[in-house]
Amino acid sequence: MKTTISKIKSMKGKEKITMLTAYDYSTAKYTDEAGIDIILIGDSLGMVVLGYDSTLSVTMDDMIRHTGAVSRGASNALIVADLSAGSYDDNETAALNAESLIKSGADCVKIENKPEIAKFLVENNIEVMGHIGLTPQTVTDFKVQGKDEETAAKLIKLAKECEAAGCFSLVLECVPMQLAKKITESISIPTIGIGAGTYCDGQVLVVNDMLGLYDKFSPKFVKKYAHLAEDMKKAFENYIREVRGGKFPEDKHSFH
Ligand code: KIV
Repeated sequence: MKTTISKIKSMKGKEKITMLTAYDYSTAKYTDEAGIDIILIGDSLGMVVLGYDSTLSVTMDDMIRHTGAVSRGASNALIVADLSAGSYDDNETAALNAESLIKSGADCVKIENKPEIAKFLVENNIEVMGHIGLTPQTVTDFKVQGKDEETAAKLIKLAKECEAAGCFSLVLECVPMQLAKKITESISIPTIGIGAGTYCDGQVLVVNDMLGLYDKFSPKFVKKYAHLAEDMKKAFENYIREVRGGKFPEDKHSFH
């Protein structure tokens, strides 16, 4: 059954929400078949799929293409697509770009910070997931956010502004677990943590990180549930050896 936004909202405090990123048809299909609640076409696409150093080079064309691929692979999960950096600097541009993601198959969009833009999108019938804390489109200092009283208070205020703007949920990235707990308890919408500890209403990971398919850097909050880079390399080496040794293809792989 298709996961809806009201289902996600109703899970707060009752059932943990599960979310993973996906960027292509096959990954979307398998995460969906495994029973994931939410698939995010994150702009982490830029690093783990397109090989850039940051998310800043990702374009709306990239997001639209990959959102289409994911939506063709998933039938049950709620599909959230990131608006790329620079694509939601003002209300009208944000609405146009969000609509193009919805047309490509997203159920809703995610934006970093900017509750005022979220409010405009929600008023125009586009559902929005917020994202605060370490927000890679703007933060240049990749470290835990909200560690002192002043920055923690700012994040709590921002979380409340995202809720008031009508966001249906909020990603908290790289904040101390005690702060994530405080935010989770002070808003009525679900929080989904990445590097934000156990008290969030749900968790998200970048799929390439949790599958062991991205080794440029591995943050402390990542748990590797598989080591696919090693499995892939072994498979490629076997293939190369067998082709070179005349062992593949065998008769059963050939047409007569
Ligand atoms: O782009 C992304 O993958 C994200 C997650 C880290 C939440 O925004």
